[in-house]
Amino acid sequence: MTTAETTPPPTIRREDYRPPAFLVDSVELHLALHPGATRVTASLTMRRNPAAAPAADLELDGEALTLISSALDGAPLEPGRLARLPGGGLRIAGVPDAFTLRTEVEISPEANSELSGLYLSGGNYFTQCEAEGFRRITFFPDRPDVMARYTTTIEAERAACPVLLSNGNPDGAGELPDGRHWARWVDPHPKPSYLFAVVAGDLVAARDSFTTQSGRDVALAIYVRRGDEDACGHAMDSLKRSMKWDEDTYGLEYDLDVFNIAAVSDFNMGAMENKGLNVFNTKYILARPETATDTDYEGIETVVAHEYFHNWTGNRVTCRDWFQLSLKEGLTVFRDQHFSADQGSAAVKRLSDVRRLRAAQFPEDAGPMAHPVRPDSYVEINNFYTATVYQKGAEVVRMMRALIGEAAFRRGMDLYIQRHDNQAVTIEDFAQAMQDASGVDLSRFRRWYGQAGTPELRVRDAFDPASGRYTLTLSQSTPPTPGQPEKLPVPIPVRMGLIGADGAELPGAGVLLLEEAEQDFTFDGLASRPVPSLLRGFSAPVRLSGLSLEQLGFLAAHDSDPFVRWDSGQQYAVAEMLRMVQEFRAQKPLALPEGLASNISALLDGAADDPAFAAEALVLPSEDFVADQMDTADPEAVHAVRQFLRASLGTRFMARFAALHDELRDAGPYRTDGISTGRRALRNTALSYIGRAEGGDGIARAARQFETGGNMTDVLSALRVLADSDAPERETALAAFHARWRGDDLVLDKWFTIQAISSREDTLRVVEDLLQHRDFDLRNPNRVRALVGAFAAGNPARFHTASGEGYRFLADSVIALDAVNTQVAARMVGPLAQWKRQDAARGAIMREELRRILARPGLSKGTYEKVSKGLA
Ligand code: PHE
Ligand code: ZN
Repeated sequence: MTTAETTPPPTIRREDYRPPAFLVDSVELHLALHPGATRVTASLTMRRNPAAAPAADLELDGEALTLISSALDGAPLEPGRLARLPGGGLRIAGVPDAFTLRTEVEISPEANSELSGLYLSGGNYFTQCEAEGFRRITFFPDRPDVMARYTTTIEAERAACPVLLSNGNPDGAGELPDGRHWARWVDPHPKPSYLFAVVAGDLVAARDSFTTQSGRDVALAIYVRRGDEDACGHAMDSLKRSMKWDEDTYGLEYDLDVFNIAAVSDFNMGAMENKGLNVFNTKYILARPETATDTDYEGIETVVAHEYFHNWTGNRVTCRDWFQLSLKEGLTVFRDQHFSADQGSAAVKRLSDVRRLRAAQFPEDAGPMAHPVRPDSYVEINNFYTATVYQKGAEVVRMMRALIGEAAFRRGMDLYIQRHDNQAVTIEDFAQAMQDASGVDLSRFRRWYGQAGTPELRVRDAFDPASGRYTLTLSQSTPPTPGQPEKLPVPIPVRMGLIGADGAELPGAGVLLLEEAEQDFTFDGLASRPVPSLLRGFSAPVRLSGLSLEQLGFLAAHDSDPFVRWDSGQQYAVAEMLRMVQEFRAQKPLALPEGLASNISALLDGAADDPAFAAEALVLPSEDFVADQMDTADPEAVHAVRQFLRASLGTRFMARFAALHDELRDAGPYRTDGISTGRRALRNTALSYIGRAEGGDGIARAARQFETGGNMTDVLSALRVLADSDAPERETALAAFHARWRGDDLVLDKWFTIQAISSREDTLRVVEDLLQHRDFDLRNPNRVRALVGAFAAGNPARFHTASGEGYRFLADSVIALDAVNTQVAARMVGPLAQWKRQDAARGAIMREELRRILARPGLSKGTYEKVSKGLA
């Protein structure tokens, strides 16, 4: 979809929601697949919606469709009754109350580089319909509150497409003349059009089965390209564990005879929950120890679970409109996080979830695209698949559960599903089910859905030795965001405890509910002033301030809650790093703060007890996280300080890092349990410190590990150290890696990324050269994210280079991409839109680049929305 230069695309508003004028009861689809010209015939059984305002004409969405023929109740429609709508839709004048509409259209999968609708990838056919891709397949009321039963017949050349898949259960197949064949699929469950899917091609299946709690057998299959069948084991295992977990935790059972997954290398997102036929980015399916890292294995488990859980939270109960996106996404992320926490170390899982929330969602919530979990308006819905809708949405569900309790939350889920099965509903309906099941009034709590911005939680405390009374004063405020200048207080559950001077937990632990702008909470009978441990488990998505460096150091050493222990250590480091940034700017020499060194030393002492936790805690806060705490960022200074600290800590503790690196070597075969991944994480954290240390043997160690490493986690960690260095081993290793893995797209993505995030000063030059590399492909979203995305979002020091060349590079990339894949282009704009965070000189160049993008004729509405909001 492109827009004329002069007319801005329309804004869609939540308050304008109207029920659909016509409903679709059933859909009969027939697809005759050809790469350049696919014929799609649709028979829609429709009727007027009794709940909607009467409309004389029928309007259907459509985009990039060539209409071949149309008939109403069997009679061809005269041209006079047909009109094309501006975006490509269809208006049919004067339809009866109930009727069958048959349309025949032609589409070109081959020409579809947008990867929305029906497209080709490696010669195979895939569809992507969320959010508005079905209208690129046939004329339809393409909105989630129109739920219909689908029967789909696919026809294709047998040799090119032996496999023909769609939603639901298989219902016949047969031969046709000219080497073609067909297969029919019937989906008994009514569904919105965004859950429709077709996959056809030369794919092979990894198969298994699952017996549900009520004893039904479900045939499971993961379809991949020939040769990849052996790389599906982890995904299949994750699927079976997810199916079991949803039965055990929520009593939710799978509802079809088959569950199919198909993996595709050209995909705009991570994966898609189409009913009975999930489509996955290969990144979240394929894993072998020698090609996938521990992070990849974790990602597969999470995404497989996420898409499977959508079967109930998303598919059986779906969204009324796209403003309700978090109804399915926030809830389903909450469910996949809970599942993953149950599979291994819940504490370490929580740390990494919070780290991700702070890295992506907090900046979004403080920037020009800030929006509530339930947005009020959008120009392009694809721009709202955001960290706020997903991650903050999950945090809101999590707080709700903390407020009403686990048992009531489970009753609330039962009630939600029982009330709304086969319906398209709102976030309000979800909150109401939770309120009715618990008896807890959630009216104030609902503000979390409507207000954007990250609340700031401040703490003050006072102790009266005479009475033994300790008073905690908690206050909150939420900064203004675009369109929301004033904010109301939100209920913030603060899980807490008190720690005595000896480090022991004192009585008084619990959950404080801060509902007003400021409240006092008192604790009596204390002998001395305690240290408060606040936001245990990160009980609310807020920014906490008010604790002293001493208190943070104490909590990092003593608190019983692993989240607070980790976070206090990180906050301590941030405080020191911010102080050092000022010194650097004043051109004072930097010195390793002794307090920070002793925190690291204590972590090293305890590292053997919990390697996974130690690996998380030993890593210094990221450059972005530190810059995010400054009024005006200073990427150069932050980078210099962080590199200085890595080098001086590496040098100071060289012997201990070297010991960890020697001792934690994997023994036996590669395993992905929490203990094994924790050991590898700690070992590679140690290597990264040695790699920066002065006079260390980091390069030699990394080169050896690169050559002998038995798994991708170790090999890539070693390559990362080399890629950051000026050593001759760097070029040899990069060349060897490329030569070995040139045939594996997912591994090649890692090769691009590792160069894009290198801290070397010449990185931008390297990235520009890589853009011309024969293995680079602007049409492959994974490759674009691996190079352009990784550089712009993962290398602040080089992206924000003072000359502005990094900004120009990103703007050029966005412009080139917008002509190929508008969704991917719009998603790349983010880093440029954060110009208010930078100093005046950088900000001016960033704005100039945004203006340059905006001036392009024919810019897509998605990129237009991101850029224009970014400039505002
Ligand atoms: N609904 C998918 C998920 O979160 C994400 C997605 C959105 C995929 C839009 C493709 C297109 O599980
Ligand atoms: Zn989802």
